[in-house]
Amino acid sequence: MCKGIKSKFYLHFFKFRACLFQPIFLKQSLDKREAQNALRKLSLNSGMIDFCSNDYLGFAKSLELKSAIEKEYNSISTPSNGSGGSRLLAGHTLFVEQLENKIASFHAASAGLIYNSGYDANVGLFSAIGQKGSTIIYDELIHASVHDGIKLSSATAFMFKHNDVTHLEERLKIAEGIVYVAVESIYSMDGDDAPLKEICKLCKKYNANLIVDEAHATGVTINGGKGRVQEYALEQEVFARVHTFGKALGCHGAIILGTELLRNYLINYSRSFIYTTALPLHSLVAIQESYRLLENAQTKIDALHELVSYFKNGLKQASPISFVESQSPIQCLLISGNEAVKKLAQVLQANNLDIRPILSPTVPKGKERLRVCLHSFNTISEINQLFKVLHELTNI
Ligand SMILES: Cc1ncc(COP(=O)(O)O)c(C=O)c1O
Repeated sequence: MCKGIKSKFYLHFFKFRACLFQPIFLKQSLDKREAQNALRKLSLNSGMIDFCSNDYLGFAKSLELKSAIEKEYNSISTPSNGSGGSRLLAGHTLFVEQLENKIASFHAASAGLIYNSGYDANVGLFSAIGQKGSTIIYDELIHASVHDGIKLSSATAFMFKHNDVTHLEERLKIAEGIVYVAVESIYSMDGDDAPLKEICKLCKKYNANLIVDEAHATGVTINGGKGRVQEYALEQEVFARVHTFGKALGCHGAIILGTELLRNYLINYSRSFIYTTALPLHSLVAIQESYRLLENAQTKIDALHELVSYFKNGLKQASPISFVESQSPIQCLLISGNEAVKKLAQVLQANNLDIRPILSPTVPKGKERLRVCLHSFNTISEINQLFKVLHELTNI
């Protein structure tokens, strides 16, 4: 047998053999997803017009940021490819401690603790604070990472209807023990705002601790990207804030902001902080330089908000599709049903517009959507191109 045919034969043989030894539920579960038109697949970024990424300010692809990171990283003489361990062992450095202080001070918080991702931060926070006898009340649209943190906690958990403060108050009335309320300042899949001021008032009234996930507000809010909590001067009212670095900041990781007491508690009890290798120096330098760039990014933030207004005004004229009311760069067009929303996304993609369908079960059945993310680097003509295709598709 020639070499090529032989290696193909072995490849098929091993694939076949591997299949035989897989638990049957793997295939059954995937078949079920396929039947629901909800099978998740990885797809490569194809150079289409970006209406999809969370890179709201273009930092992830910024040459200015790339060279600032390289310059700073190269100026550090000790080689550091990896951190060498958990923060509690070899992975702790003066650099990360100083960075935490700088970010905490940028966000007007007393202390901060960096995690390897926003997912880790939420899982580590909620699993650690959710002691037996305490209660966590969460908005029904809260991110999966908060759900996972709650699952790992010993607390009692109640959901309240999305942004419904009356329902939240009903929940607060029956909550027992130490009470936490979990919201996102800007919701990831809807792009709308939490009524933070009212929620804060209620938390004060019922002596509850408010936790705000600022993932999609970081770098985006009009106050230099410091987030909604600072925009409304609520720093003192909030128990903890989570800011992530993987969205507008264009890099990776997250920080939990709060008191020094909370920081020390998390260092002792937050398992996703303790039992993992710390971020390497290169990632920390990237976070530092990204925050530096953010300090001079007001023009970009203003441009982003102008595009959001342009989009919101034009969309109503371009298409009768209903949308989720939102002031943020996340604008969602509701198209019921996985098949329908997938088809529409395919047409948009065929027109060079990178817009992804958000399917159930990621969002509730019937609330499937096209999630359009706007960026400071998008242009009016790109948005007009999107309107044109939507108009042709929906005004027949
Ligand atoms: C609201 C919210 N919180 C947390 C996360 C997790 O952050 P990261 O991507 O840094 O893990 C995300 C990301 O999808 C998010 O949208």
